[in-house]
Amino acid sequence: MLTANNITKKFAGVTALDNVSLSFLKGQVTAVIGENGAGKSTLMKILSGVIADYEGQLNLNEKPVRFASVREA
Ligand SMILES: Nc1ncnc2c1ncn2[C@@H]1O[C@H](COP(=O)(O)OP(=O)(O)OP(=O)(O)O)[C@@H](O)[C@H]1O
Ligand SMILES: [Mg+2]
Repeated sequence: MLTANNITKKFAGVTALDNVSLSFLKGQVTAVIGENGAGKSTLMKILSGVIADYEGQLNLNEKPVRFASVREA
């Protein structure tokens, strides 16, 4: 349903996400697990439109999307 391809997010001097790719399937719960600072919240913020400035691509039902806001996401 939703795929993230090669998502990279850098904050000044810090690479929060480095080429992250994963798929979310309809009807399946996905857990994201990682140590403190691994980038979980940053990834969720990109998927939910909180952060719109990132490298890489999101696809929703195989169509490219880039959410500019939470409402749009
Ligand atoms: N707004 C920001 N400005 C600068 N650096 C940030 C910002 N948000 C996150 N970071 C940095 O990006 C990296 C990933 O942070 P993130 O909050 O996504 O990790 P997390 O996996 O959610 O951690 P936690 O388990 O502590 O919630 C960390 O090094 C963090 O300090
Ligand atoms: Mg977090």
